[in-house]
Amino acid sequence: MKVNKIGVLTGGGDCPGLNSVIRAVTKTAINLYDMEVIGFVDGFKGLVENSYIKLDLPGVSGINHKGGTILGTTNRDNPFHFLTLQNGKEEYLDQSDRAINNLKSLGIDGLIVIGGDGSLHIAQKFSDKGVSVVGVPKTIDNDLSATDVTFGFNTAVNTASEALDKLHTTAESHHRVMILEVMGRYAGWIALHAGLSGGADVILIPEIPYKIEKIIEKVHQRYQQHKKFSIIVVAEGALPENGEMVVQKLVPESHDPIRLGGIGQKVAEDIEKISNVETRVTVLGHLQRGGQPVPYDRIMATRYGVAAVKAFVDGEYGTMVSLQGNKIITVPIKDAVEELKKVELTSELVEAARAVGISFGD
Ligand code: F6P
Repeated sequence: MKVNKIGVLTGGGDCPGLNSVIRAVTKTAINLYDMEVIGFVDGFKGLVENSYIKLDLPGVSGINHKGGTILGTTNRDNPFHFLTLQNGKEEYLDQSDRAINNLKSLGIDGLIVIGGDGSLHIAQKFSDKGVSVVGVPKTIDNDLSATDVTFGFNTAVNTASEALDKLHTTAESHHRVMILEVMGRYAGWIALHAGLSGGADVILIPEIPYKIEKIIEKVHQRYQQHKKFSIIVVAEGALPENGEMVVQKLVPESHDPIRLGGIGQKVAEDIEKISNVETRVTVLGHLQRGGQPVPYDRIMATRYGVAAVKAFVDGEYGTMVSLQGNKIITVPIKDAVEELKKVELTSELVEAARAVGISFGD
């Protein structure tokens, strides 16, 4: 089947590199295949409400280095459970057929969904309903299975690593423990990579529940070696042994309603209570999602965008483009969303961290 017109949308939390994918999809579709490209505004919300822009070459010029997404996004709107007004009353209804009718009336042959776990789940459901879909793996968390890396992750690690460099100098001057809380939801990838890069003394990740005594032991050990400061990186999903993750708030309409945050403060309070070592906390938050993508992410996002259009042309629907080794291949979307990719406790990366003296608080 000749593909004449494709739709593209960005779903879920934004992430550095989204614009590079949009640019690559648009350029490849127009330059190589003479297609038309439609961009839906604010992710799946735009698909349901038929809100879109036509993407052309001038429209995607000069965006490769820019963070965010020119199409807008939301991590709340799910066409299969969509907030609608019925006789003045708010009600969640399945609006997936309305979205499919919009695609049909616009003459769109199928959809490229740039998203993480939640958006790709929705993409899979559209695929099950017969829509031609190709996914592109996005998330700073790097927690999608079936791909080595998601774009955006390296930029987030870069931001966190730069923050650690800055915290080092102030920690050393004041002889303090400095804690940096980073994102990553239920996976410790950002914390592990940033901690390795930024010379952390302790890294706390959800995959390895910590004991506060072990953290304090490490801080004291450094004191004895005349290093009167310590740097701790805490993933927002880290938790004490026999304890729980710290939930900051709930966003009920979201695919995953839990918003984590606050574990850094808890660790700081516990350290001060038990050891009396002065401790400060920095929560890096959405700084990790904003700003310019690093070159690695721009290049990977471009490769993903090009590969997604090619997958479309080859009729590989229901798939997601994926990096495996140094090759971009396609994998079934369901392989990517079945389970979250977590840090393996026996991985070479964790062993390398332990070898250079980093404690995981275990
Ligand atoms: O999944 C990306 C992510 O940034 C997580 O690391 C974080 O827990 C969450 O999104 C924050 O979501 P929100 O933008 O709704 O605060």
